[in-house]
Parts: sequence; C-alpha cells; structure tokens
Amino acid sequence: MNTQVKEKVENSDFTNALHEWLSGEVTGHLGTYMYTDDADDHRWKDGHSAETYYLGRDDKATFNLAVNDLGIHVKSFLDLGPGGEASVLAKSVPIVKALGAKNYYPVDLSPTLANEALMTMKTSLESVGGHTIITDFFDTIPGNKERALLAIMGGTIGNFETYTNPKNLQERLSQIFSIYRRTVDENSYFLVSFDANNNGKEIVACYDNPEFGGLVRTCVQRKLDTSGFDYHVAWTPENYQLATGLKANRDQIIRFDGAEYAIEEGEYLPVLNSYRFPVFFITEAAEKAGWSPLKTWSATGRTHYMLFAAI
Ligand SMILES: C[S@@+](CC[C@H](N)C(=O)[O-])C[C@H]1O[C@@H](n2cnc3c(N)ncnc32)[C@H](O)[C@@H]1O
Repeated sequence: MNTQVKEKVENSDFTNALHEWLSGEVTGHLGTYMYTDDADDHRWKDGHSAETYYLGRDDKATFNLAVNDLGIHVKSFLDLGPGGEASVLAKSVPIVKALGAKNYYPVDLSPTLANEALMTMKTSLESVGGHTIITDFFDTIPGNKERALLAIMGGTIGNFETYTNPKNLQERLSQIFSIYRRTVDENSYFLVSFDANNNGKEIVACYDNPEFGGLVRTCVQRKLDTSGFDYHVAWTPENYQLATGLKANRDQIIRFDGAEYAIEEGEYLPVLNSYRFPVFFITEAAEKAGWSPLKTWSATGRTHYMLFAAI
C-alpha cells in the first residue's frame, strides 16, 4: 500500500474538505472518504440490497445489454472506481474479455480497492497485465494511454461536489470529461453509466434507510461529533441533485481544527451527491469535452450506459 498517498488523503485532504464542508462553501464531496478506510462495511452492503435500492438491479440489467454489444476492441481498459472483488468479477472482467484488452488499470483513491481490483483481474485472466493508478479521478489522471476504453460505472460519475446552478454543473461535468479525454489517445473510447430517473419519491427511497444514514454519518464522524445532526436525503430536480447529508437539529457552534463554525438549526450540509443526470446533459458535457456519442443502452429507462468515441 502507498502509505504516503493514504496519509495525504486521510489527513490533510480530509481536514481541508471538512473545513469547506462546515463553512458550507463546498458540499457533497465527502463521499470519497467513505472508501479510504474501506473495511467490510455491512451498512454499505445492506443499504445496497434494500428492496427500494433499485439502482444495483437496474445497473446490472443495463450492463448486460452494454457488455454484449460494445463492438470495440482496444489494448487497455482504465477502470475508474472499480470497487472491490465482487464488482470486478461482475463487470470489469467481462469488459476486458469483450474488448480483448491486454492491460488493466484500476484507477482509485483507495489503494486497497485498486490493489484488490488488480489482483482479482490477474487471477481471473492470467495473461492480462497493468498496474494501479492512485488518484482522485475528479481532479486528475496521470499518464496517457493508447487505444483504451476508459469507464466509470455504477453511477459513480454523479458523486462530485454540489453545483446549484445547472450551467456551472454542466461546466464542471464537462471539465471532468475533458480530464478523461486527455488521459487517452484519439483511438479510444469512454463508457459511462448513470441513473437518469427523475421520480423523486423513488430516488429518495433508495437512500432513506438507516444503513445509508449510518454510512454517510461515519464519513464525517471520524473527526467530528455529529450528534447535533440528523441524516437527511434531499432531491432538487432543478440541478438533478440527490444529496445524502446531515441536517442540524439545533443551533450549534462546531469547533474543529482551530476554527469555529456557527450552524443554525435546519441547515443542511450534503455529504455525498448522487446526481441524476438526464441523457442530454451527459451528451452535451461529453461532446464539449471531445467525445462523440456512439451507443446508448437502458434496460428500464432509469439507468443508462453510454459509449463515446474520442474525436
Ligand atoms: C460505488 S463504487 C463503484 C464500483 C463499481 N465500478 C460498480 O460499477 O459497481 C465507487 C468506486 O469509486 C472509488 N471512488 C469514489 N470517488 C472517487 C474519487 N473521487 N477518486 C477516485 N476514486 C473514487 C471508490 O473507492 C470505489 O472504488
């Protein structure tokens, strides 16, 4: 494990992120830190297997349509946020097989998950080479790969910080897609999965359970007392934002790392965003970033997989 990266992520980055979050300047960006001490978390697994959490089932059905119809052959597969062994076996291995790829690069902020992904891939397909890339993929991805497919699946593309103005949100999404475009050459492709559902009741029900609540709270609780907050799920269709976060249950002063923050009762601080982007929104952002749409799949009209080619 790369201890330097782990330390940096867990200490200075996380502390800075908490200052931003407490000041309300940047919110919805703490989800990443859930994964940096990724134990075998049952709240995560239980939350995902709740009946109301349709996303996993939808994603699987749509993934099956996509993987059987990709129709592209490339040298390398960059897997952004591979997750652990189970999702690598369910998704990453079938993709590498479908592509006939020789190299596998799991890209993750968590060295533990990236290593687990690489080991799982190499055990399943012995002829496949590659290495881990430890980075925040909403920030930068080092290196440049030829003839590659770069994929971000499982709705992870919706997990970045809050933008209340749709124009700013579109610019930021396009900037992220530009980072991906710069990581590969012109003979490359980009695959993204996202949930385009705008049924507020259905989306909120996905996350409105104690398991997710516990998980979201733990994200902050490592460094802060969260007893003055309740777990809260909010859907704002204007900016496609589904937020899981904490709502102050009283007026309070929070002292953290030499600073003081006054938080009023009712103030809501999103911890993790799961944007529900419509298809047109993803398409526009990708086109601005140098990607041209090739194929779209959806088993249910909710979760979508889209394949783009580099322009
Ligand atoms: C929800 S899992 C997705 C797993 C799998 N790809 C799937 O489709 O089921 C999210 C993954 O992205 C990683 N991750 C989340 N935010 C990240 C970020 N900003 N930079 C790098 N990795 C991140 C997590 O460590 C985890 O492996």
